[in-house]
Amino acid sequence: MTVSSRTQVGIVGAGPAGLLLSYLLALRGIDSIVVENRSRAYCEARQRAGLLEAGSVELLRSVGLGERMDAEGLEHGGIYLQFEGERHHLDFRDLTGGRWVTIYAQTEIVKDLIQARLAAGATIEFEVSDTSVAGLDADRPVLRYTDSAGTRHQVSCDAIAGCDGFHGVCRDSMPPGLIQTAEREYPYSWLGILASVAPSTDELIYSRHPDGFALHTMRTRQVSRLYLQVPADEDIDRWPDERIWTELQHRLGIPGWELKEGPISEKAISPMRSFVAYPMRYRRLFLAGDAAHIVPPTGAKGLNLALADVTVLAKALTSLLQEGDADLVDAYSDTCLARVWRATHFSWWMTSMLHVDPNRDEFGAALQIAQLRYVISSRAAATTLAENYTGYFRLTWEP
Ligand code: DHB
Repeated sequence: MTVSSRTQVGIVGAGPAGLLLSYLLALRGIDSIVVENRSRAYCEARQRAGLLEAGSVELLRSVGLGERMDAEGLEHGGIYLQFEGERHHLDFRDLTGGRWVTIYAQTEIVKDLIQARLAAGATIEFEVSDTSVAGLDADRPVLRYTDSAGTRHQVSCDAIAGCDGFHGVCRDSMPPGLIQTAEREYPYSWLGILASVAPSTDELIYSRHPDGFALHTMRTRQVSRLYLQVPADEDIDRWPDERIWTELQHRLGIPGWELKEGPISEKAISPMRSFVAYPMRYRRLFLAGDAAHIVPPTGAKGLNLALADVTVLAKALTSLLQEGDADLVDAYSDTCLARVWRATHFSWWMTSMLHVDPNRDEFGAALQIAQLRYVISSRAAATTLAENYTGYFRLTWEP
C-alpha cells in the first residue's frame, strides 16, 4: 500500500541545508516535509565543520536561531598563520572593518534546528529508504520514500529541494545531459580528531610544515579539534593516538608554546575535493549544499555555503508559491553559483598554499612560502584572506 499526501516543498536530507530551508519556509507559512535516510541520533552526532562566517551568524540570529549559539559559540577576530617556524596573527576585525567568525559546531546547529522544527509540529521522517523524485517535467513533482515502519509514501509537491549531500539521489535525478560538473581532487586527506582537552590557543592555528599541514581548531572551551594532512588513501589504523599527538606536536610546535594533549573521543579521515555541479535547478527541483558543490575543508566554507543556498532558495520559493513570481527561482542557480565559485576559489587557494605536495615539488613549495610571506606582510593581501574568510557576500532575511 502507498500512502499519498501533499505538501508545498519536499525536502530530501536533514542536514543543516534541508533543516534550515524547512525552518525558513515555515516562517513564511509554507509547509514542507523533510525525509532523511539516517537516524536522528546519527544526524546530531556526525562530526563536520564548526566555523560560521559573520553573515551566517547574523542570519541564524535574525531568524530566531541564535540563542544557544550566542551562549555557547566562541567568537574569533582572527587566525594564526604558521610557516617556517614562525606564527603570525591576522586580525580580521582590523582588516575588514569589524568582521569576525564564530566557532559553533554543525552538530549543534543541526540539534537546534531539529528541536525547533519538531517543537513547531513539523514532519521530519528519519530512517527512510528508497527515496526517489519523479514527475520533474510537471509543476507537481513527486517525492517517494519508504518510512522507518516500512510504509511506502508518495508526496505530491510544488517544489522539491535536494539537500541530500554529495552522494544523494537528487542530483542524479536531473535530466541526463543537463548538469555539468567541474572538479578537482587533491593528493591528500585530512585526519581529524576531537580531543577532550581545553584548546591550547585562543584562535585557530593554520600551520604549513614541511612534513604536512596541521590545523588547531576547537569546539568548546573544553574540547579541541585538530587536523593533520595525511596521504590521500591513508589507513586510519596506521594512526594510533600516540602517533597523532607526536605529529601534531611536531607540525604545530614553536618555542615557548605548548600543545596540551587529552583523550581522543573521535578520529576519522576525510578526502579533499572541489566539485561544482551546475545549474543547481531543473524546473521545480533545486539542489542546495553538498548536493551541488563540495569544497576542501581549508577555510571552512562548506557549511556556510549550504546555509547561504537555502536562504536564497527559501526567498525564491516564497515568491514563487505565494506571489506566482518566478524571477527569483529563475535566478536561483546563478545567484548561488557566484558565491559558490568565490568560495571554491578561496578554499582551493588556502588548500594549495598550506598543504605539502606529496611529489616534493620544490618550486611549488617556494611559491607557497612567497605567498604566505606576502599575506603576512601586505595589508592588501591579508585583507583578501580576511574578507574571504569572514565572508563578504551579504546574506539577509528580511523580517
Ligand atoms: C574547522 C575546519 C576547517 O576546515 C577550518 O578551516 C576551520 C575550522 C573546524 O572544524 O573547526
